[in-house]
Amino acid sequence: MSRFEGMTALVTGATGGFGRRLCERLSQAGANLVLSDVKDGPLKELAQSLPGKTATLAGDISDERLSKDLVALAKKSFGGLDIAINNAGVAQTFVKLPQVPSAEARRIFEIDLLGVFFAMKYQIPLMERQFRDDRRPGAIVNIASVAGRAGAPKLSVYSAAKHGVIGLTKSAAAEYATKGIRVNAVCPSFARTAMALAFLSRAPEGVEAATNDLTRGVPMKRLAEVDEVVEVILFAADPANSFMTGQELGVDGGITAL
Ligand SMILES: NC(=O)c1ccc[n+]([C@@H]2O[C@H](COP(=O)([O-])OP(=O)(O)OC[C@H]3O[C@@H](n4cnc5c(N)ncnc54)[C@H](O)[C@@H]3O)[C@@H](O)[C@H]2O)c1
Repeated sequence: MSRFEGMTALVTGATGGFGRRLCERLSQAGANLVLSDVKDGPLKELAQSLPGKTATLAGDISDERLSKDLVALAKKSFGGLDIAINNAGVAQTFVKLPQVPSAEARRIFEIDLLGVFFAMKYQIPLMERQFRDDRRPGAIVNIASVAGRAGAPKLSVYSAAKHGVIGLTKSAAAEYATKGIRVNAVCPSFARTAMALAFLSRAPEGVEAATNDLTRGVPMKRLAEVDEVVEVILFAADPANSFMTGQELGVDGGITAL
C-alpha cells in the first residue's frame, strides 16, 4: 500500500515551490488532495496534472473564511481531513527593521502568522472530532523557517512571524497531544524556489552579494533543493511518525548546529 493511501491532505500555497512538489509526492503516494493558493488558474492546472483525486479552492489565506471553507471542502469532497500542510507564505524586502514599510509588515504578519492561525483554528476541531469518533489521527505541519528559530538580519518581520508560527505549533501540539493531533513545524533555510529567487532579485546589493550573504553562515555552503525540504515535510506528516509532536524540524544545511 502507498504511504498516504486513502488519506486526505490539505496543502496551502499549493502552486509555489514547496507546495507543487508536495502535492505531486502526496498524490503519487495515494492521498486525496485539497489544494489552495491565490490564483484559480494555476491551481486547476496543477490539480489536473496530478494522478489522484483533488478539490481546489482559490483565495487569500489572510482571509479567515478561506480556512473555514477549505476544511468544509475536505469534509464534503473526501469525508474528512488527515493531513494539513500550512505552507502559504510571503517573504519581505531584504532591509533593516526601520526600512520595512509598516504596511508591508502588517501584510506579512497577516499572511505568514495569522494565515497559519486561521488554518489551524478550523483544522483542529475537525481532526479532534475524527479522533474522538473514529480514532482517526491528524497531522498538521506548519512551514516556518530557520528565521523562526533565531534572529535574521534584514528579515526582522518575516523572522518575527515565523517565530510566531513555531509558538502556535508548540502550543497547539501540547493542547492536542492526547486528542490524536500531532502538530510540527518545518524550518528550512533558503531553498531554490520562486520565493527565494524573487527575494534575491529584489536585494538592493544585487543577486550575487545577497546569495553570498545568505549562504555564508550555512555549513553546507549552498541553498537547499526543494526535494530536500519536501522530504522532511512528508516525514512530519506521515502517521507512522506517531510519537513526534511540537517539534521545530531544521532543514538548514547545519546552520542551527553552530
Ligand atoms: N524558499 C525558501 O527559501 C524558504 C525558506 C524557509 C521557509 N520558507 C517558507 O516555505 C513556504 C513556501 O514557500 P516557497 O519557497 O515554496 O515560496 P513560493 O513563493 O514558491 O510559494 C508560496 C506560495 O504561497 C502563496 N501565497 C502567498 N501569499 C498568499 C496568500 N495571501 N494567500 C494564499 N496563498 C498565498 C503563493 O501564491 C505561492 O504559491 C512559505 O511559508 C515560506 O515562508 C521558504
